[in-house]
Amino acid sequence: MMAANGKKVWMDGRLVDFADARVHVLGHTLHYGVGVFEGIRAYPTSQGGAVFRLKEHIERLFTSAKFYHMPIPYSPTEVEQAVVDVTAANDVLPAYIRPLVYRGEPALGVKNLKGKVSLAIAAIPAKKYLGEASDSGVRAKISPFRKPHSDSLPSFAKASGNYLSSYLAGADATHDGYDEAILLDSNGYLSEGTGENIFLVRKGKLYTPGLESDILLGITRDTVLQIATDLGYPVVEKLVSVNELMSADEAFFTGTYAEIAPIKEVGHYTIGTETPGPITQNVMRVFHRALTGAEPKYSQWLTPVPRLARPTARVRS
Ligand SMILES: Cc1ncc(COP(=O)(O)O)c(C=O)c1O
Repeated sequence: MMAANGKKVWMDGRLVDFADARVHVLGHTLHYGVGVFEGIRAYPTSQGGAVFRLKEHIERLFTSAKFYHMPIPYSPTEVEQAVVDVTAANDVLPAYIRPLVYRGEPALGVKNLKGKVSLAIAAIPAKKYLGEASDSGVRAKISPFRKPHSDSLPSFAKASGNYLSSYLAGADATHDGYDEAILLDSNGYLSEGTGENIFLVRKGKLYTPGLESDILLGITRDTVLQIATDLGYPVVEKLVSVNELMSADEAFFTGTYAEIAPIKEVGHYTIGTETPGPITQNVMRVFHRALTGAEPKYSQWLTPVPRLARPTARVRS
């Protein structure tokens, strides 16, 4: 869990004080989960603060909002600028940035298609989603809760209501003493973690489930696919069985919040012989170089935050 605090929240075009960033208790999104959101990070780089893969996150936000009939009353460029502005206003790095598209005005009844669509964007100090386990290796459990089929809840949209299964799976894993849950799709193949995609490594190749396993098409997943390919590792998107994971040489989660987190154990099975394994380590090394601006090849993934342009920006966590 990440305790949320900050100075300012961008709400429908205004930067309001953190304590005043409120919505009505009868707001539609609060009752029915009809909201869409993003999780984005900004990092200190050698050139100052920069948001990682901002364009792709905002593109996904618009795709999710369109699917849920929530027209965002701003252009993608305006939303990108708002992300930069709120990050600068909070003067925090590394930052976790959370845009949320919601209906916040008092209105009951599920079919609220006409209610005002609002956008709020918070930027708070970033922590590690999986805590210490991000470094030492995650102990994960195959969850008894499965990912809802995309015929019911399309997984490409990052919608608030999609997270009910993640919540149940996460609660179950926590109660059983694990760091994280792995949800299967409705056919019993691997889908993803509660807030991450999953990769495994076998005989020098990377494998990861695709959209047919009802995953969110993660932007970190895409980053890893590009980095791994550039490093010369073959990458295969396919249906992945639990047995393939149990017998993998290496495995790891990817996500904006979790970054790249090596998986040490799944249930009673130890994955590979070292955590992180050598290929995971290689990918992690280039990933960290990319997000700190040390890899010119990937500099297009970074959007500068001009007011956080000092070379060694302050890190508060
Ligand atoms: C369910 C789920 N899967 C995967 C991911 C990873 O996506 P990304 O790398 O875009 O953060 C997330 C995080 O947003 C998520 O919530």
